[in-house]
Order: sequence, then structure tokens, then C-alpha cells
Amino acid sequence: MRTVYCGLVSKDLVDKEVTLCGWVNKRRDLGGLIFIDLRDREGLVQVVFEPERKDSYDVASELRNEYCITVRGVVKPRPDNQINKDLKTGAVEVYASHLEIINRSEPLPLDLNQVNNSEDLRLKYRYLDLRRAEMTSNLVTRAKITRFVRRYLDDHGFLDIETPILGKPTPEGARDYLVPSRIHHGKFYALPQSPQLYKQLLMMAGYDRYYQIVKCFRDEDLRADRQPEFTQIDIETSFLEPKDIQAMMEEMIKSLWKELKNVELPDFPVLTWDEAMSKYGSDKPDLRIPMEIRDIAQIVKDCEFTVFKGPANDPKGRVAALRVPGGAVFSRKQIDEFGSFVAVYGAKGLAWMKVNETGVQSPIAKFLTEEQVNEIVKTTEAVNGDIIFFVSDLKRKVVCEALGALRLRVAKELNIYNKEWAALWVVDFPMFEENQDGGITAMHHPFTAPNIKSVEELEKDPYSVYANAYDMVLNGYEVGGGSVRIHKNEVQQAVFRVLGISQEEQQEKFGFLLDALKYGTPPHAGLAFGLDRLTMLITGSDNIRDVIAFPKTTAATCLMTDAPAFGSAEALEELAIQPTDIEK
Ligand code: AMO
Ligand code: AMP
Repeated sequence: MRTVYCGLVSKDLVDKEVTLCGWVNKRRDLGGLIFIDLRDREGLVQVVFEPERKDSYDVASELRNEYCITVRGVVKPRPDNQINKDLKTGAVEVYASHLEIINRSEPLPLDLNQVNNSEDLRLKYRYLDLRRAEMTSNLVTRAKITRFVRRYLDDHGFLDIETPILGKPTPEGARDYLVPSRIHHGKFYALPQSPQLYKQLLMMAGYDRYYQIVKCFRDEDLRADRQPEFTQIDIETSFLEPKDIQAMMEEMIKSLWKELKNVELPDFPVLTWDEAMSKYGSDKPDLRIPMEIRDIAQIVKDCEFTVFKGPANDPKGRVAALRVPGGAVFSRKQIDEFGSFVAVYGAKGLAWMKVNETGVQSPIAKFLTEEQVNEIVKTTEAVNGDIIFFVSDLKRKVVCEALGALRLRVAKELNIYNKEWAALWVVDFPMFEENQDGGITAMHHPFTAPNIKSVEELEKDPYSVYANAYDMVLNGYEVGGGSVRIHKNEVQQAVFRVLGISQEEQQEKFGFLLDALKYGTPPHAGLAFGLDRLTMLITGSDNIRDVIAFPKTTAATCLMTDAPAFGSAEALEELAIQPTDIEK
């Protein structure tokens, strides 16, 4: 029907007749003329109806916002004083000769020109919310990213191969979404948390460069950067050194930023996990913030403040300081509030020291000698107008996480960022970590290669073993993560044993993998990017839902379709599932 998109009408079309299709964004009646802004996915163009053309003028009088119409007319340049520089098509307008209303619209339940509609309303009427320019732009950017990534990977010899959605559980650390089987009562498929095992099996099958842009499903607590179903750019390679795959992926992200943002990202620095935790209190440090956590145990190990002295002399403890440039402006009330904030991470208190022209001001100064105070100021490089925060604990992790979170919080409050983009690699993660119940889990996943010389090392002291794993971090977001994989059967079994997975359970859950590892497995490594997170960063949104067409709420529901829904009695009976009490 259309000859050109509204948003693409340009001076090149002056004096030509065009046919446009779209929605009425706004109508204005001005001294006899009727103007409408006509909108489609590419943008707006102004259409003018003159009373002399009675047929179209009369229909135009009936137009209301969001009517879907088609217009034929001639493109004219606007007089110089009427050029609208804010509009891509602002140098021209279309003089209508014909107008047809395709479909009328009721008044909308949300205001498309206003950003502050409640998110619930936006999600309920998502198809209307998606008419907004900001949302259109986000989805267009997302499509550009996937197009770019596919081209890059195709050019580098990667094959796009699909893997099943109905499968067996893949342990990525979240809860599985289960789908009951109608044919095998009591049995369930698990939706993939990632295609991890399938992509490894593809390496064993010889497809040495694989990729897939794929939905993953994780039933976990949701946050601003997490969705229960999200999209990965999933990648696996064989016979490549980890540094080569990292270089190739770094190049992909750099060229993506160049293409979409015209930004040249500098080479990504590499930090070990230990360094990241120690300097930034996070395994996904935001390096736009010029603040580092510094150890002060050596300075305070003999001080009179028992809160510091204990952990300073304990090898598992940590006493650390965070200097905040310009932080002396914080009031007592704000500092108290930061104290409650770090308590969430387990910190038992938050000591502080303001550095002023008159000296230091601090509730703990009385416990410290002048020399100790001077050493602290020197170590933290504090200057007049700064504040130094301290956390001390017998658990190193508490200190790191508390000061790491405080670092992000105060940077936001004082707007201390010294660059727009900061990307890095975090490498050498511990292989295992303690979970909330005191049990042992794999920090990445159990198929990650441990950095060991012999299997015995693994079983003797698992917590001291590091993994060949790497994450890509951008502006404080983990945008991708991966690892070298185990390609020896005995190492895989040893990791399972350390994780407390019995021989029978190994066979039942991962028998196919252990079998496959017997038939000439190549060395392989890979990673997966979070497409939603990359899109969030490129579009500058801080909410993952804004870059997904039909996202779920933080309670994992869809407000538009009302999913999830109760199963019908017949469906449940076929699946041999008892209706719940709630339903009855
Ligand atoms: P991982 O679990 O680190 O690794 O996931 C890879 C990337 O996916 C993104 N991501 C998410 N994005 C939105 N919502 C979520 N709930 C969510 N969970 C993860 C992150 C993350 O970096 N199989 C391994 C990869 C590998 O080893 O190759 C894996 O899934 O950006
Ligand atoms: P107190 O003498 O216990 O009242 O503590 C003096 C100061 O030290 C207060 O500002 C506390 O918030 C702070 N503090 C207490 N415990 C800790 C801790 N574990 N780490 C850092 N500061 C602490």
C-alpha cells in the first residue's frame, strides 16, 4: 500500500506523489488547514489537508489520535521559517489529496507522548507502549545488534546450529522450568538454562565453531538486569587457546560499539578475580569509577580498636578502606544510612574518617595513633574534602562485598565517573564456592576446566583450585561469561565427586556427557553473551524490560496475556497432575 515510510520522507521526494500508511500521532486544526503528524516505525511526517480538497479535508476532520490511516499526497518543501529541526522529516510536508481511515481507535489507556506511564500499564498494553519512539528505537537497535553479531560470526567461520528447548536439566545455578510429559507421566522436560552441554557435544561431533542466538530459561529471583527467559549469544570453539577466543570476542564487541555507537573501546584490561574482589569488591567491577578499596590491616594490626585488630590479625579476615573523593560533604544522617546499606552485605558497622584542612574527623580517631592516621591517609591517597570508609570483618567476603556495594552507591550519589565506557575481562575465578547452605557448588558451571596439574589436587583442597573461566564486564555489568571446558572423562568425574554427585547420579544426569567424553573429545572453550544486557548498555537503558518486546514482570508474570495460567482440568488429567488447592 505504501510507497515510503513516514519517517523516511525526505527532500529527495519533493514534488513526487507518495502513499503513506500509519497512525495519527497528533492532529491540529489551524485557520482552515488541518495538520496531522503521521507516524510509523521509522518516525513522523507532517501531512497537510486543505479545505479546497473537500473530500479528504472532511475525512481529516474526523481523525483522532491513533487512527490507522492511509494518505496519498505530494511532498513539498516547508518554508524556511517552518522547518522543524527536531524532526528527521522536518524540512518537508505532504499535501494530501486522498485520505482513507483504515481503522478508528478508542482513546488509549496510556499516553504515548508521556514517558511516565506506570510500568504495569505499559506492560498490560505492551503493543501500544511499543508504538512509542523510544521503544521502537530500542527494538531496532536490538535487531541491528543481532544482525551485526551474525555477520561477524558468519565471517569468522561459525555455524549457527539450533539445540533443543525440551531437554534435561543443565546446571547453571538457577532453578529449572519444568514441562510435564503427557506421554511419560511423572516425567518432566527441563527448559535449558543455557545450551551448555549441547554445544560441548557439538564440539565432540566436530563442528569446531558454533554459535546460536538462543532463549535461555532460569527460574531465579529477578532484578533490573535479569529476566526468567532471556537471550544468549552462545558460542563454542575447539582447538583454540583461551586467549585467542577472548581476543576474537573482544574484537567482536569493539566492532559492535564502533558500528552502533561510533565509539572506539580501548583494549580490555584483564583482572584476576582475586584482584577484582580485592580492589573493587566485585567480580564485575565498574571501572568508570575512580575509587579503589585498599587494605589497611598492616597499619591497624596493633591498634587499640578491637574491631579492626581482630580481623587484621586473622588470615581469613580483612580490614579495608574506601576513599571517596569529595565525600566529606556527606552528613551524619547519610553516613548512618550507608551503615544500614552495608549491613545488608553482613558488615557489622561502617567506620569513617573525614579529611579536612583542620585535620581528620572520625569516631575511631581516638583509638588510633597519629602515625596510624597518617598512614591510612597516605595509603588511601585521601586529600582535603574526602571521606574514607572502613569495614572490618573476620570474613573477607563481607568486607569486599560491603565496600564494593558502597563504592557503586556513592559513585552514583556524587556522580563520580571518569569515563563513559569501561570494559574488562575478569579471569581466574575460583573453581568452587560455598553456597548459602554451606554446601559446595561450581562457581561457573561444573564443566569448566580447573587449573590443576593432577586430579588429586582437586579433591584435596577444592576451595584453593582456580578455574579457566573468564567473564567480560562492561560498566559494571557481566555481559558475557565462559570458560575452557573439561575434555577428560576422569577430570569431569572428579569434579562431580567434589560436588557430592554420586556415581549413580552422575550416570543418571550426565551419563551421555561422560560417555561422549570417551570418544576422542577435542579441547574446547566458549562463552555466552547476554544479548539483553548488551542491548541495554548500547541503548543506554537501565531496565532490561525496555529492550525486550514482551518481557515479564519481576514476579515472572506477563501482564498482557496473564501468563502463567492454571491448566484446564482436561490438560491436567492428561498430564496426571493433581489440580492444586488454590485452583479448586
Ligand atoms: P552465564 O550463566 O554466565 O553462562 O550466562 C551468560 C550470560 O548471560 C547473561 N544472563 C542473563 N541475562 C538476563 N537475564 C538472566 N536471568 C541472565 N542470566 C545470565 C549474562 C551472562 O554473562 N553456559 C554458560 C556460558 C559458557 O560457559 O559458555 C552460561 O550460561 O550476561
Ligand atoms: P563502636 O565503638 O563499636 O561504637 O564503633 C565505632 C565505629 O566503628 C562506629 O562508626 C561503627 O559503625 C564502626 N564499626 C563497628 N564495627 C565495625 C566493623 N566491623 N567494621 C567497620 N566499622 C565498624
